[in-house]
Amino acid sequence: MQDKPTTTVLVTGAAGYVGSHTVVALLERGYGVVALDNHCNGSPVAYERVQKLTGASFVKVVADVRDEVALAHILSTYPVDACIHLAALKAVAESGQKPLDYWSNNVGGLLAVLRALQHAGPCRLVFSSSATVYGVPEFSPVPEAAALRPASVYGQTKLAGEQILLALAAQSPLSRLATLRYFNPVGAHPSGLIGEAPHGTPNNLMPYITQVALRQRHELSVFGGDYPTPDGTCIRDYIHIQDLAAGHVAALRHLLDEPGSFTVNLGTGRGTSVRELISTFDRVNGVCVPSVVVGRRSGDVSEYFADPSLAKELLGWCARHTVEDMCRDAWRWQLRNPEGYT
Ligand code: NAD
Ligand code: UD1
Repeated sequence: MQDKPTTTVLVTGAAGYVGSHTVVALLERGYGVVALDNHCNGSPVAYERVQKLTGASFVKVVADVRDEVALAHILSTYPVDACIHLAALKAVAESGQKPLDYWSNNVGGLLAVLRALQHAGPCRLVFSSSATVYGVPEFSPVPEAAALRPASVYGQTKLAGEQILLALAAQSPLSRLATLRYFNPVGAHPSGLIGEAPHGTPNNLMPYITQVALRQRHELSVFGGDYPTPDGTCIRDYIHIQDLAAGHVAALRHLLDEPGSFTVNLGTGRGTSVRELISTFDRVNGVCVPSVVVGRRSGDVSEYFADPSLAKELLGWCARHTVEDMCRDAWRWQLRNPEGYT
């Protein structure tokens, strides 16, 4: 299981949804972890659960990722070999209401991390981007070379992050930078100990489904039933969070072993409609999620899913979990943690 026992990784946004699962994946493979989070959207309880799951200890730093003094202190105290930079704000609608917060956190945070890493030597960094950078793709499966035209402030901050990394790679060929474009991460660790814990009303489909299934919400609104898809509802590429976490480890391993920088999609290559996701959830969990079709949500794309072939070719990574696994694990997490991390 251990492949880099002496490698230490700084993980920013470590207490969040992707972060907690990625830290488990790293610890299970023997990496040392320095976890940084300011807990604006992540809970320190996630760390206790990670420790319980892995039996491994790791360093926890409560700090804002834009705090260059804190970053310098971390890098002078711990033998950090690489960084997985996840800390960001991610709510699409909110990003339009609070653009300055999004630019500051998402781009200011990345710049602070890069400056601190560069001070210590050539950067080794894995960056969380999003399929949202594609905007409305012309066709699916979407390859990495597709046009980039994000429709939201959130997406624009992710694209700006990618452009910063491209500029750095051009200026500093010794840097090794991985950009990961996630499709739709869902599900939870199969233990039910860590998972997605949105604050307030969920923006995304799966956490809304699980809260309706638990009767915390009355019914699911299906945003649009008249799209040009086989059942009229939107199609997305849902990817199990465990596969996504493994994708980070694969990207990291590649960066540590090989020179150069790269950008890859992390998706399954399979599309699932909203109706299919609801019916799979009902079937595998023996529940009934009441739903009603309402108007379309502004900005939604009818259908898109990844071309994940580059990640397979370059990193030897591919998604292994099924939509059934995603539904089962999301439900187990929700049942065991009805109020999230408390
Ligand atoms: P999350 O909100 O659960 O985790 C982000 C973590 O970053 C939180 O724990 C939060 O407290 C922390 N954070 C935010 N700003 C910070 C700051 N300035 N300083 C320190 N910590 C800060 O979100 P997530 O789903 O785990 O997303 C992780 C990354 O993946 C983000 O960059 C997000 O944009 C990206 N992403 C997520 C999805 C998704 O659907 N979950 C999809 C595509 C891309
Ligand atoms: C959204 C974000 C995207 C982000 C992704 C993963 C938008 C426009 N895009 O994508 O930037 O990277 O989340 O975090 O917000 N749906 C319902 N009812 C609901 C919720 C969702 O029908 O209550 C539908 C949506 O219309 C969509 C599908 O479910 O067709 C998936 O929605 P969601 O989980 O929000 O993901 P995306 O829209 O793909």
